[in-house]
Amino acid sequence: MSTPTRIRLATPADTPGIEAVLSAAFDADIPGVVAFWREVVGRGLVRAELVAEHDGRVVGHLGLSHAWLDAEPRLVDVLVVGPLSIDPEHQDQGIGSALLDAARTEGARQLAPYLVLEGEGAYYCRKGFVPAHTYGLLPPSDRVAGDDFLASALETREPWMHGRVVYHDLWWESDAIGLFQPA
Ligand SMILES: CC(C)(COP(=O)(O)OP(=O)(O)OC[C@H]1O[C@@H](n2cnc3c(N)ncnc32)[C@H](O)[C@@H]1OP(=O)(O)O)[C@@H](O)C(=O)NCCC(=O)NCCS
Repeated sequence: MSTPTRIRLATPADTPGIEAVLSAAFDADIPGVVAFWREVVGRGLVRAELVAEHDGRVVGHLGLSHAWLDAEPRLVDVLVVGPLSIDPEHQDQGIGSALLDAARTEGARQLAPYLVLEGEGAYYCRKGFVPAHTYGLLPPSDRVAGDDFLASALETREPWMHGRVVYHDLWWESDAIGLFQPA
């Protein structure tokens, strides 16, 4: 009998499992994703990591990291979703959806007004995200097509919270912006 999949916050002991899932889900499409995520962690930019655990093994991972919203009155802290990766053998079982639900709960707990991400609307717009321009959020670079920059508004969002989303230096140093291209 199959055991249920559990969504929880990651601990340091999960790092090898997380990196294995990142490699399995992404490496062919986005080489270097493991090294990039190590840098995000190493520079203290992670605000939470969520994992899906099945039979004692990490089978899914979602990272939440920090960015700013350059709103006119002041900078606002927002959370960037990604990478989101599910082990190929466990895809299409609702694990990505469960991790996104948990990310919204965690973002609300951290009082973030928005989760933002670069990704495919065909997937994320069924999971509580809308094109970020709906809220007047501009992507961090013109290399991110408007409809591929998505946002989920949380309870602390206020109407004045719009403007450009600004990534940390690491994203620019690593040329890690606009990597997502819809198929
Ligand atoms: C994309 C990904 C995160 C989805 O997670 P998942 O756990 O497999 O997806 P869920 O079970 O929550 O949702 C499955 C549904 O989403 C659909 N779906 C999955 N990937 C999709 C995509 N890229 N575009 C549109 N729909 C997609 C499935 O067809 C399925 O539809 P259904 O409910 O009508 O059957 C996962 O497939 C993955 O890790 N892919 C490789 C890495 C990646 O591309 N990450 C996202 C970067 S933007």
